[in-house]
Amino acid sequence: MAQATVPVLDRGFIFGDGVYEVVPLYHGKYFRLEQHLARLQRSLDGIRLINPHSVAEWRGVLEELVARNPAAPQQTVYMQITRGVAPRDLAFPNVPPTVFAMLNQIQAPTRAAQQRGISAITVEDLRWQHCDIKAITLLPNVLARQQALDAGVQEAILVRNGEALEGAASNLFMVRGDALITPPQGRNLLPGITRDVVLTLASEAGMRAREGALTIAGLRAADELWLTSSNKEIQAVTRLNGGPVGSGVPGPWWEILSARYDLFKATLVGI
Ligand code: PDD
Repeated sequence: MAQATVPVLDRGFIFGDGVYEVVPLYHGKYFRLEQHLARLQRSLDGIRLINPHSVAEWRGVLEELVARNPAAPQQTVYMQITRGVAPRDLAFPNVPPTVFAMLNQIQAPTRAAQQRGISAITVEDLRWQHCDIKAITLLPNVLARQQALDAGVQEAILVRNGEALEGAASNLFMVRGDALITPPQGRNLLPGITRDVVLTLASEAGMRAREGALTIAGLRAADELWLTSSNKEIQAVTRLNGGPVGSGVPGPWWEILSARYDLFKATLVGI
């Protein structure tokens, strides 16, 4: 890591002109890699940057990364592509993109930590109008997360025009009765890979899973709130804006879906 360098004129550094992906691995096996590479392609298309690698080439690079690093039960790969190194000018340059990828070890949360759930606050969503693109330009997310930490809680839920959309780095789900509702895909949020899995698993578990707008008042009346992402999987939010969510502990549907998610991972990666 210490030997890897990027020139200071890289457009990722100067403009935040790039996109990224985070893919989980379990025991050295990539989880939903095809879906992550498809979303990477959509992000690249969204910023009009030509993908420097075919899917087969990406798979080769990522497998080499696993082979060259120590194995671990749970890891993520972070991959970033920027529009390359060029004199500082907004116009697209004619240079090769910069590609960077690294493996990170993940400390799986203990059962006790999972059972505590997390606390969150709602904050105004100050991001741009293309949150469906996984852009490296994360300043509003950085500020939102820090606002949450400064308030003594772990996560911020972003609210735009009265609608709760997602966490600073996760998708949002609300449970009421046997209904599971998550804000609709569109420009306002990232189409999460974990989100898709959870929607499918919830339907299989007998929930009425659907997309729908979530308001702050709606969140207050929730039986359960969850945040989902590649590195945190399904997190129960047990306190929101200082009050308990539902009964104040992770709910029964969270227990069921977490167990199903673990099972799905295990069958997919053969562990
Ligand atoms: N973030 N929404 C936002 C804004 C995110 O940044 C992420 C993931 C998600 C969840 O997407 P997925 O289930 O595909 O991980 C939703 C990654 C993990 C990150 O920035 O580290």
